[in-house]
Amino acid sequence: MCGIVGYIGTEQAAPILLEGLTRLEYRGYDSAGMAVFDPQAGLQVVKASGRLQALRDMTDNGAKVVGTSGVGHTRWATHGIPNDINSHPQVSPSGRIAVVHNGIIENYTKLKEFLKEQGMPFTSDTDTEVIAHLLEYYYEGDLLEAVGKLLRRIEGAYALGIVCADAPDQLIAVRKDSPLILGYGNGFQMMASDVTAVIPYTREVCYLNDGEVAVLTRDSMKVYDSLLRPVEKTTAHVDWEISAAEKGGYEHFMFKEIMEQPKAIRDTISPRIRDGKVVLDDLTITKEQLENLDKLYIIACGSSYHVGVAAKYILERLVRIPVEVTLASEFRYSSPLVTDRTMALVISQSGETIDTLAAMREARRLGARLLSIVNVVGSTIARESDDVIYTWAGPEIAVATTKAYSTQLAVMYLIALHFAELLGRVTEEEYARLVAELQSLPAKAEEILKHTKEIQYYASIYFNHDSIFFIGRNIDYAVGLEGSLKLKEISYIHSEAYAAGELKHGTISLIEDGTLVVALASWNELFEKLMSNVKEVKARGADVIGVATEAHKAQLEELVDSALTIPDIDPMFLPSLEVIPLQLLAYYVALMRGCDIDKPRNLAKSVTVE
Ligand code: AGP
Repeated sequence: MCGIVGYIGTEQAAPILLEGLTRLEYRGYDSAGMAVFDPQAGLQVVKASGRLQALRDMTDNGAKVVGTSGVGHTRWATHGIPNDINSHPQVSPSGRIAVVHNGIIENYTKLKEFLKEQGMPFTSDTDTEVIAHLLEYYYEGDLLEAVGKLLRRIEGAYALGIVCADAPDQLIAVRKDSPLILGYGNGFQMMASDVTAVIPYTREVCYLNDGEVAVLTRDSMKVYDSLLRPVEKTTAHVDWEISAAEKGGYEHFMFKEIMEQPKAIRDTISPRIRDGKVVLDDLTITKEQLENLDKLYIIACGSSYHVGVAAKYILERLVRIPVEVTLASEFRYSSPLVTDRTMALVISQSGETIDTLAAMREARRLGARLLSIVNVVGSTIARESDDVIYTWAGPEIAVATTKAYSTQLAVMYLIALHFAELLGRVTEEEYARLVAELQSLPAKAEEILKHTKEIQYYASIYFNHDSIFFIGRNIDYAVGLEGSLKLKEISYIHSEAYAAGELKHGTISLIEDGTLVVALASWNELFEKLMSNVKEVKARGADVIGVATEAHKAQLEELVDSALTIPDIDPMFLPSLEVIPLQLLAYYVALMRGCDIDKPRNLAKSVTVE
């Protein structure tokens, strides 16, 4: 959601900014722009609504924009429609100061009134314009000082990139509750919303903390706290390859990431299983602290929340501690029953989702211990947790998550096994059996991925449906939630997931001739019950795609229109296998409908506004 890139160095800035913005495209945006300091002509601002290509065309891929320092932005509209005027950078009345912003300024209306009273004109509908104007209001020759005053006035979430024509040899970066990292180079410095934008140039990065301000010059990087006192920062080395964030011959990132799942699961679990035992070096919680817990609260959004729904079944079965799963956006407003005997399990691919971050801060305030499962190293959620277990999925670029979801589940299995063993809730034999089952997961996922053609064929039959239901029971229901989200977010088909037993309590009235129902029947124990639900919807005219394990192949084929099978495995690990055909189904359906698969409309990869 909004991407920021800043560069100050000796190379022409605009092509570097465009390249960085291209790498941030996956975050989601609807307009783009940049401000570059031209020594002859002063601050040059170019911006355009729509795709980045418009900005490329206007500037001949940046060649027409002269200057070696500047900031660029991709905007995901919050305040004001996505048009040229509302695009960033937003500029101060004199045109001297330009600002790019990710986040929301909550008190912008009041500030706007105040600035209007001072005679300052406004041209956009954005909250960001007040930042540019306030900076000009406070600016008396020292940009950093003006930023310090600005920070005392604005409320909300913000990552800012600031450039001023009077101080052409510096860029200023600011962050509070929205991500921003710094990249250290030799003779140049950068800022960006995430590391993907800087790794072609440098692998030495630094994560800004909330309230911190950085002053970037060609040869130095100085960081201050919100009171402008100098802060010592350490750098981190990014060691993943650039190719991990490129398509590598695939048509879409989403398909590449689906295919990478066996490896991602293997990378996440293998180093953490030694001599048949789950070893979570990253976890500091002791057996005594664990015994003291009376509740696990899972906090997450979207697909990460769906991992939580599946994890509840897994953790309660194995660890025997009550688990409550809550949408992060609801948590703070639900009088949560959290005490110092609660552990909050926070799940987030990006580690920057603002709702999740706000909820976990509230959980901490109420006394909970925080254990997070995060993919992006050094992200805010990871840094603010007591313990973090990283999913080693590598960079995930497609907005629709696939391999991050799968690795989050994999970490959940590890946690469940580890906690169950520590608490003595599982026999040695059962533990050994489950660990072996978990280790079989990557190979079984590979097996499913050999059948992409079959799923493509089913997609070609059903891609024209305009309403699709997913039904399942227990853990199959949890997977249905994810399958339904995948489908709707990239194919724009209306879809809902239901606990199959609930059909008769209302939803079945929507089933008519030709309605497509995806029946998830992999949990062997409940196969027969699910088949009864299949008969009920078929009797009312539904077309049914069924998913079950190999054990029920023959029965499934008899009852449904299109049957998909997955390898047999302990039910605890089913979600990881069952989700794959659903991801592929969504992918092929979206492909056949001509949708923008990696960048679905209105969506952002990292949701940094509430
Ligand atoms: C799923 O495909 C979406 N990208 C979305 O639901 C996502 O899972 C959600 O926004 C949470 O993001 P996070 O894991 O980065 O916190």
